[in-house]
Amino acid sequence: MALSSTLCRLNLIPRPWLPYTVTTLRALKLKPHKPQLLRPMWAPLTLSSFSVSAQIHRPQDDNLIVLGIETGCDDTAAAVSSGEILSQVVSSQADLLVRYGGVAPKMAEEAHSQVIDQVVQEALNQANLSEADLSAVAVTIGPGLSLCLRVGVQKARKTAGSFNLPLIGVHHMEAHALVARLMERELQFPFMALLISGGQNLLILAQGLGQYIQLGTSIDDAIGEAYDKTAKWLGLDMRRSGGPAIEELAREGDAESIKFSIPMKQHKDCNFSYAGLKTQVRLAIESRNINAEIPISCASSQDRRSRADIAASFQRVAVLHLEERCERAIEWALKIEPSIKHLVVSGGVASNQYVRARLDQVVKKNSLQLVCPPPSLCTDNGVMVAWTGIEHFRMGRFDPPPPAVESEDFVYDLRPRWPLGEEYAEGRSEARSLRKARIHPSLTSIIQASLQQQH
Ligand code: KG4
Repeated sequence: MALSSTLCRLNLIPRPWLPYTVTTLRALKLKPHKPQLLRPMWAPLTLSSFSVSAQIHRPQDDNLIVLGIETGCDDTAAAVSSGEILSQVVSSQADLLVRYGGVAPKMAEEAHSQVIDQVVQEALNQANLSEADLSAVAVTIGPGLSLCLRVGVQKARKTAGSFNLPLIGVHHMEAHALVARLMERELQFPFMALLISGGQNLLILAQGLGQYIQLGTSIDDAIGEAYDKTAKWLGLDMRRSGGPAIEELAREGDAESIKFSIPMKQHKDCNFSYAGLKTQVRLAIESRNINAEIPISCASSQDRRSRADIAASFQRVAVLHLEERCERAIEWALKIEPSIKHLVVSGGVASNQYVRARLDQVVKKNSLQLVCPPPSLCTDNGVMVAWTGIEHFRMGRFDPPPPAVESEDFVYDLRPRWPLGEEYAEGRSEARSLRKARIHPSLTSIIQASLQQQH
């Protein structure tokens, strides 16, 4: 990918909001607060990337400034947060997605490597800060593509090592859920979250920081993958990824025109499956002789109408599957934690207005409140990583600064398959996940082990 084409996208995502006045920002800069690091108290745990060091004197919450780095899939993202958003930079690999019809790990890794330094620098520049002003560096260590995660982790370790900063390894899906707490200060644990992205669907009950019960997960393709493939087969413009293209085209179509069947109706659980719906869509496209080689912009009006009907019918059923799972998950979650008041919906697909509107009806029926971060914080971003870093740092969960110069044979702690929580026992179904291979214990089990060790 041409470096220039990537760089010119660096500023495409505007700073969402800058609640601090310039004066406050300057004050922050002039008086950076670093954690008072008492090294002898660090006690790294074998299971965890976190050193649980609650006794360490930490700066007041308001004074933390954390750099967040995200490279788990196809977006190179960095942001600086102090509990407010000081900067946000995303360099997307949309042109690679178009060229390869999906994420090609090796190409994605190269693209990340080309831009990571500039993305991080731009995030610091936008925040008007330098590395020396930071309190810590947070980075996604999983789940995701190892080749891609490695680029971010390498950069984070280099930055933290050079400036003697603590490091926080972040779970990508936890970050999607927790970013809602940055936006909605009223959002307290316990709450529910539906995380819908390109790689995974997850329904969780968040009982506390790092404490999650997994109510449902994808047993094959995630909803974002189904949006992307449908868009590709319909010959839509994939430059903004498939989801937004389907959302737009679906507005022109008749959502009742094709009766796709709702996935997993017979399974009374909260798991998700989109592989079958994808096949139904592909067959519908083939039977209507739609040629994806002809871009939608060149299609006849009848052809366009036919594509719009498929987009709308697909979207209706894809979202009905979410609604049905959420209804059941709310029932389960309220049995475990009757005080739940919120359902957070986050991840790339949560940017979709139709998805939001339908899920809003589901939560209202159950007297809950829907919390959706703004679209720029639903798709992969560095803010969610920085914020999750702040949340864990406040609890004393972080690693000591890495050495300024890393040894050549250092093995990075990358967790491409890393469950967030433990499965809800009563929710186990016979439809077993195809993605059973677990490389790491869940984040929740790691946190629980570390808490037990503390007592
Ligand atoms: O969370 P995300 O940015 O990346 C990961 O997969 O981790 O999600 C990307 C997914 C893509 O599949 C994209 O098509 C989908 O989110 N997406 C949408 C919309 N915007 C992004 N899907 C439906 N409607 C949208 N407006």
